[in-house]
Amino acid sequence: MYSVEKLADYSPEALDAVAASLLSALAQEAAQIADEAAWKVFRDRWMARKNGILTQVNDIWLKGAPATAKRDTGRRVNELKQAVEAQVETTREQLADAGSEARLAAERVDITLPGLRRQIGVEHPVIRTMNEIVSVFRNMGYSVGEGPEVETDYYNFESLNFPADHPARDTQDTIFIAGQQHRPQRDRLLLRTHTSPVQIRTMEKQPPPVRIVIPGKVHRHDTPDATHSPVFHQVEGLAVDRGITFCDLKGTLDHAMKAFFGSKVQTKFQPSFFPFTEPSVEVYISCIFCAGKGCRVCKMSGWVELLGAGMVDPALYGFVGYNSDEVSGFAFGMGVERIAMMMYGLDDIQQFYLGDVRFLEQFA
Ligand code: DAH
Repeated sequence: MYSVEKLADYSPEALDAVAASLLSALAQEAAQIADEAAWKVFRDRWMARKNGILTQVNDIWLKGAPATAKRDTGRRVNELKQAVEAQVETTREQLADAGSEARLAAERVDITLPGLRRQIGVEHPVIRTMNEIVSVFRNMGYSVGEGPEVETDYYNFESLNFPADHPARDTQDTIFIAGQQHRPQRDRLLLRTHTSPVQIRTMEKQPPPVRIVIPGKVHRHDTPDATHSPVFHQVEGLAVDRGITFCDLKGTLDHAMKAFFGSKVQTKFQPSFFPFTEPSVEVYISCIFCAGKGCRVCKMSGWVELLGAGMVDPALYGFVGYNSDEVSGFAFGMGVERIAMMMYGLDDIQQFYLGDVRFLEQFA
């Protein structure tokens, strides 16, 4: 441990030597300082007014100097004082730097850690099924259209060949908007009961040829149960051109069902009635669960009814300014929930609307 000794020799060489050994002791001790507490001890040992090394240097070396060496000794003692003060200060700065480096190192972001993952939503099974149906027709060159959910009596009924008071209107369980009695019947508002009105809106807007599919939400005055919902979805289709025949209808829908349900699926067309098609059909597919052998899903018949279709009734062309001598076409409409329930083997339509994540995440 360094200590200040009395000087016998005050020659410049001797003073050089004692100064050098003091400075080397100072440097050595400074190099050992690892923390704030050690630094305080170091600072006090060298700089304390009472008995610090600098004080001793002053008291022992300078005060003991002969008159001839006083000046030289005083200058050196001053230099040593500055050196000690500088060393104490740098040591403190180095400690602070090391401390903040350690803190920075501890806080540094580890970019190799996994990030915070937010769960992203997925398409609802009904919307997904609707998009899949649409894309089957898109691949056949159909465009995609939409129309309003709040419709007029004209588009929902009259222009689709449901005359006022025609009994076919009763099949639709329509929800009417209240307070419309002052308007002419054709202008009265209702919630569309099917996507068929968009057939008329499309033909009003463009001349033939038309090939379009129309996905959308529809409303009926139905009490919710396992197979009914007052709000559900349909995909409508319309193809009008020169020379379109019932064979085109059959071929298109047969292809679409095979594209959707698999190439083994067969289709069956059975006569039906819709005001806006003539002839009208109900389209069945062979049951995808039993391959037509008969099971609970198809009620042992081997067939499942999937959609309505038909050749566009020429009366419709009169409403939109098409020449019924020149063009012909077919239309179809299907319920999306019904198809989604078939696809996923569900027996309760309400599951789609409850918003239960445990149900919905099965489709993610
Ligand atoms: N609009 C009918 C309904 O909701 C479904 C339908 C049947 C649409 C035959 C059509 C069609 O385009 O040709 O019950």
